[in-house]
Formats: sequence, C-alpha cells, structure tokens
Amino acid sequence: MPVRPPFRKTLKKFLDLPLRVKFILSFLAVISFGGVVSLFFGTRLEHRTIFSLAQAKVRHDLASAWMVYDEKLNDIRDIVRLNSTRDSIRNALLARDRELLCRLLGRVQREFSLDVLTLTDETGKVLARARRPESFGDDLSEDPLVRRASGKEVVTATEIVTREDLVKEGEGLVERAYLEFIPTPKAAPRPEDREENGMMLKAAAPVASDNGRLLGVLYGGILLNRNYEIVDRVKDIVYKGEKYKGKEIGSVTIFQNDLRISTNVTDEQGRRAIGTRVSREVYEAVLVQGQPWIGRAFVVNHWYITAYEPIRNNAGDIIGMLYVGMLEKPYIDLRNNVMLTFTGIAGLCVVILLVILSVITSSIINPLQRMVLATRKIAAGDLNHKVGVDFKDEIGKLARSFNQMTENLKAANENLVQWGKTLEKRVEERTKELREMQDYLVQSEKLASLGKIAAGIAHEINNPLTSILINTHLMLEKLDRRDEFYESLSLIADETSRCTQIVKGLLEFARQSPPQKVFTDINGLIERTTQLLENQASFQNIRIVKDLDRSLPHLKLDRSKIQQVFWNLMVNACEAMPRGGQLSIQARLSTDRKFIEVRFIDTGVGIPREHIHKLFDPFFTTKASGSGLGLAISYGIIQQHQGRIDVKSEPGQGTVFTVCFPLEEAVHEKNKGGSPHA
Ligand SMILES: Nc1ncnc2c1ncn2[C@@H]1O[C@H](COP(=O)(O)OP(=O)(O)O)[C@@H](O)[C@H]1O
Ligand SMILES: [Mg+2]
Repeated sequence: MPVRPPFRKTLKKFLDLPLRVKFILSFLAVISFGGVVSLFFGTRLEHRTIFSLAQAKVRHDLASAWMVYDEKLNDIRDIVRLNSTRDSIRNALLARDRELLCRLLGRVQREFSLDVLTLTDETGKVLARARRPESFGDDLSEDPLVRRASGKEVVTATEIVTREDLVKEGEGLVERAYLEFIPTPKAAPRPEDREENGMMLKAAAPVASDNGRLLGVLYGGILLNRNYEIVDRVKDIVYKGEKYKGKEIGSVTIFQNDLRISTNVTDEQGRRAIGTRVSREVYEAVLVQGQPWIGRAFVVNHWYITAYEPIRNNAGDIIGMLYVGMLEKPYIDLRNNVMLTFTGIAGLCVVILLVILSVITSSIINPLQRMVLATRKIAAGDLNHKVGVDFKDEIGKLARSFNQMTENLKAANENLVQWGKTLEKRVEERTKELREMQDYLVQSEKLASLGKIAAGIAHEINNPLTSILINTHLMLEKLDRRDEFYESLSLIADETSRCTQIVKGLLEFARQSPPQKVFTDINGLIERTTQLLENQASFQNIRIVKDLDRSLPHLKLDRSKIQQVFWNLMVNACEAMPRGGQLSIQARLSTDRKFIEVRFIDTGVGIPREHIHKLFDPFFTTKASGSGLGLAISYGIIQQHQGRIDVKSEPGQGTVFTVCFPLEEAVHEKNKGGSPHA
C-alpha cells in the first residue's frame, strides 16, 4: 500500500466530514485568511497614515516653535534698538556718566526682563552693565555681535556665553546656567559631567551721534538656561495646554548642545527634565550633521513623535537644538481604537455571514437529509414515501425527479406483484389441469387393463353361467313349488342370474362398444330415467326435484348408454339415502356456454374423503351386494362422449355428481365420428 502523505490524509478526513461542517469550515478559512491579510495590510496602512499625519503635524509645530523663538529674538532686538537711539543714553554716553548710564540701563533691563543689558564705547570697551555696574572696562571688540553692531548693523543671534562672561555680566547668571548632567542611557558619551556655560538670545545695536558717528554699542540678552518662557509659550500656542490622560500632549525643549536647558518635558516627579541629554541618534543627525530629525523618540520616559532642528549662532555654528514632540500614546490609542472597531465590524460580518451560511447550508442539507431518509424508507419497502421539497432550484428538481423515480418504481413493483399473482394463478391452473390429465390417464390405464382381465374372465364364466341358469330353470319348471328343493333351486337361479348380470356389466365395461350417437334432447332422457326410478318401490320415500333448462340444445349422444349413466347416478343417490331424502336433478348450460351440465344432488350419507379417488375404480363398492361397476362404466361412457364426470361430497350432508357434455362436440361429431381422446 502506498504511503499517503499527511496532507492527503487530512484532506480525506476533511472530505469525510458532514456537508454542513465542511461548508462552514471552508467559509471560515476563507474569511479568516481574508481577515488576517486585510488586518495586516490595514494595520500597516493605517499606521503609516496616522503616523505620517502626526509627523506632518509635528513638523508644522516645530515651525510654530521657531516663530515664537524668533519673535522673542525680535523683541530683544526692538528693545535694544529703541534704547540705542534714546537721547538720555546717548548724552550720558557722551558725558561718560557711568552712574547715570547704569541707572538708565538698569531701569530698561528690569522693565523688559532682560538678563543682560550692556553698553560699550566705540572701541568695544564696556562702559556700563545694567546688572553689574561695578564690572566694566573689559574689551568686547572681538565679540562677534559687538563687532557687527559697530558696523552700524542691528543684529540678533543665539550665542553661547562662557562662565567668565556670565560672571562679568551679572549676579546669579552663572548659577542659572550651571547644570550637572543627569545620566541618560541613550545619550552620546561626553567627557564633561556638567555644563557651566550658558546659551543666550542676544541683540546688539550701534549707538550713533546725530551726524552718524559711532558712539558705542548697546547689547541685551536673555539667558535661555532655566528660562521657560519660550517653551511654555510654544506649548500654550501650539498645544493649548491639551492633556491626554493627565499628561501634557505637547512638549517643547531648547537644547544647549545636547543638553536640555529649557523644557516642559517632566520626569516622574513632575519636575522639568533639564540636565538630561538627547539620544545619540538625534545627536548624530542634528548636532553633527546639521540635519532636521523627525521620528519616534523615547523622551525621558514616554514615546513621542518628535522633530528636532539645529540652533546656529551668528557664525553659523550649531550650538543647540529646538525640539517639539507630541505624545505618541493618543495616536497609538486612536490606531488601536480604529483597529478594534475594524476587527469588531469584521467579527460582526463573520457572525452575520455564518448565520447566512447556516441558513443556506440548512436549505441545501435539510432537503438532502430528507432525501437520504426517503431513500432509506424506500429501501425498506415504503414506496408511498414522498420527499416534500417545494423549492424551484436544483434541489427541488432533484426532489421532484426523486419522487418521480419512486412513483415509477412503485408502478413497476405493482406490475411485478400483479404479474407474480397472475403467474401463480396460471401455474396453479396448469398444475390442476396437469393433475387432472394425469388422473385421467391413470384411470384410463387402470380401466383398460382391468377391462381386459374382466373381459377374459367374463367370457370364460358366461357360458357355464348360462348353462347353469338354463338347467336350473328347466329343473324348476319340472318341480312343484312345494318341493323341498324348489326354494334352493330358485335361490340358485336368482344368484346365477345376478352373476350373469355382473358378467354382462363386466363385458359391457370391458367391451366399450362404440357409441351410437344421435341428436338427443337431454331433458327427455332425464325425464324417462326418473320415470323408471319412480316406479321402483324401494325408492318411494325419496322426493325427486327437477330443474331443467328447456332451451338446451340437442346433443349427439348414445341414448341407451347415457340413460345408463343417469340411471347409475340416480340409483347411487337413492341408495345413499336409505331413510329417504331429496334428489335434485339440474340441467343447464355452463357459465362459459361451452358445456351442458347435468347435476345429481342428493341429501344422502356423503362420501368419505379417502374414498373419493377410488370411486371410479371397477369393483369399488361400500355396499354389501354392490358390484362396484356402476361408476366405472359410467366413467367410460362419458369419456366416449368427450365429457367429464366430477364429484363433490360432504360426508353426512350429501353428494353432487356433475356430468358435462361439450357443446362443440355436438357439431363437430358429424365430421369426425372420432376416437374418445382425440
Ligand atoms: N350418491 C352417492 N352417495 C354416497 N356414496 C355413493 C354415491 N354414489 C356412489 N357412491 C359410492 O360409490 C361406490 C361405488 O358405486 P358404484 O360404482 O355405483 O357401485 P355400487 O353402487 O355397486 O356400489 C358405492 O358403493 C358408494 O359407496
Ligand atoms: Mg351403483
């Protein structure tokens, strides 16, 4: 046997399942395959769509953040420029009145919340510092902004300010700038562990005389370290303080190099996460390569969709980054909700599909099951069973064909049964005919052989009997009646005469002389025979009833022989009624109008069943003085007339002998003159 691969085994198992299960499994397989594929691609597509939307938004948010950032720079520039043109400051500068200058500048610095406001002379030497009046005289001619402002330009820039400069510029600035690095797992390693410099938004403007001569440079600035004005403003403008599950959605950060110096990203304790550093990945892209960076990032302790861009100083060097980020969670939840809804709808569709499917399969399978049931019933022989399916589809057609088939089967079966019955009947008929024929042949044979013996014996006995009878009569004539031998001789004569009669009968039976047939009225023959019978004194207490059809046709018969038959039958009937009774004689046409039937019906003792088949045997008698030849002879005679003789008897009730003469015979006989059994 070939080894079947496991796949074929499984397939075979599947094919053996009930139809309904197969249907549902196949549909489920198709649906789940489709579902999984569409879910997979749907998720990816949706993910991409949602996240590209989110990225576009974050990019846009970064642009907004830049606007706020630049606005702040412009504010500082405007303050500086306006104050650079103030007469009071110009005059105090010309007068080198440091005290006044410090007072004037200090007022402006406080009024506009600047961290730094400083004035230099035309050579770049510091004349007055608003925040620290005692610190002056240092040379700032090499400062890029002061140099550019000396060229009569109003300039703005973000600049790194060293610790020494912070010390010079004013009280508390160093402390604000100072930040120890908080260890950040993904950050790029750096040799330092702290930041002492600061990052500042700066603007510088020339102070000029009326005729345009440079008198000095005024510059101001805001230290970004630990200053949350910009980041919070961006958050307010862009994200409007929106929260998701208690967490700020948007976050904005200003980096000095890779260090968070101003942010609204908070740590677990809710503190601003300054002092932490950016991941190495972003560091490489933005700070090293100067590229904007947009993507997912793990910021402090949550995933954000983020955008970073470099901050450059006046010289164009990258000194920091501006960052905006949105919590990823709302998008993830949105995506999950969409997926959940999608899956829910898909599940609902599957359920609806399954319901529809089970209705459809039921509509297919139920009629099939009914048909299976019907075939079983029909197989068990119930051909009247019908499949009740009234659909117009293929199943309906199948059911109708099926019913039609059953109908035909039933008809065929009925025919078969009918035919079987007919056959049985015909076999029965034929068997009966054959048996009768056989009986007839046996009887004929028996009669023929007996006839030969009887004829031999009769012939031999006849002559001695005749001479005994003649001599006895001669002797009787000579004797007187009172003679003592007279009675004995009379007895001898009677008995001998009886013997002669028997011998005569035997000879008659044996010889079966050919019948002398002439047209005869059967009714007349019956009448004459009954007259003879009525004269017999021994049958006086027997009532004879005749029922003869007067319209019977005449038949060709040997009158004396047939009269002998009738006589025999009547005498037998009377002898069967020793205490009297009724003998009915009927003559009529048979129902098929092919025979004349003559019946002899007596109310006598009847014939025991075991005698019936012996009745027509010669010498069968139940009577003490009977010869047993009457019926045997009659049988032979009726045979010679191509007729039949039948007997029916009910012991104790009576007997019916029926003699049938064929009608056709009456006509044909003229031409044939034929032999008995032809
Ligand atoms: N009508 C009848 N009723 C009863 N038995 C009958 C009748 N006819 C004939 N038999 C019986 O058939 C036997 C044979 O009759 P048959 O041949 O006429 O001889 P036998 O009359 O000399 O006895 C009779 O002995 C009798 O037993
Ligand atoms: Mg008799």
